[in-house]
Amino acid sequence: MPHPLQHLVKTTTEIQKMRTAGKLAASVLSMIEPYVIAGASTEALNQRCHDYIVNDLDAIPAPLNYRGFPKSICTSINHVVCHGIPKSDKILKEGDIINIDVTVIKDGYHGDTSRMYKIGNISTQANRLVNVARKCLFIGIDLVKPGTSLKTIGREIDNYAKKHHYSNVREYCGHGIGSEFHEEGLQVLHYDDSSIADITLIPGLTFTIEPMINIGKRFTKTLSDDWTVVTKDKSLSAQWEHTLLCTDDGVEILTLRDDEKII
Ligand code: MF3
Ligand code: CO
Ligand code: CO
Repeated sequence: MPHPLQHLVKTTTEIQKMRTAGKLAASVLSMIEPYVIAGASTEALNQRCHDYIVNDLDAIPAPLNYRGFPKSICTSINHVVCHGIPKSDKILKEGDIINIDVTVIKDGYHGDTSRMYKIGNISTQANRLVNVARKCLFIGIDLVKPGTSLKTIGREIDNYAKKHHYSNVREYCGHGIGSEFHEEGLQVLHYDDSSIADITLIPGLTFTIEPMINIGKRFTKTLSDDWTVVTKDKSLSAQWEHTLLCTDDGVEILTLRDDEKII
């Protein structure tokens, strides 16, 4: 029987395009860093990223008009889990934590990555959450190699978050990515679910890992704008995301930033 994800395996040419798209997406997160400060509006960050993606990178911001999403990046502050919509009256303040999620399309291929930023001095609890969420991503990344089951990735991320008494959001998951933003058939859960099919990784698959970790309970709700996802109990949430390639013997982080240290 052929492997169930065989049709998602990328050619060498496609992988090269994914490398390019990944590098560009990563560069947006580095470019915007000095502007992610108290007093900045999330719309100003959106505008700056949009202009950079379009004018400097000659690329397309994938979120804009994706299923009706109105902006070019997602900005998710504090108890916002994901898909926060940039707004001119949403102003960053000291102590906030924010996730900026960038997806660019270059030459028909996607690079999808997000990271947390800390606004000035943040609480010890917020700092711990941000660090544990990043570690959850890298626990997943470290497991990527041919033969690893997607179940194992979810289970190990879940275990690590639980060890810190945090919870894992279940409604959103990592995804296959390539010429499409979200590929059908490849889902990377960030929690333990023994009932899902046991699919193993094979070389040439490209996908994201993007755990969302909450200080409180795992439950979320979507606001009336139909996009903004928040924790039901209003507890802080943090997320980090990379686009990855399963290689012949391990992993390549396609959205690794120049200044980023692997943990
Ligand atoms: N970038 C998000 C992800 O990681 C998806 C955002 S969809 C949007 O999959 F429409 F909100 F942009
Ligand atoms: Co993604
Ligand atoms: Co993303």
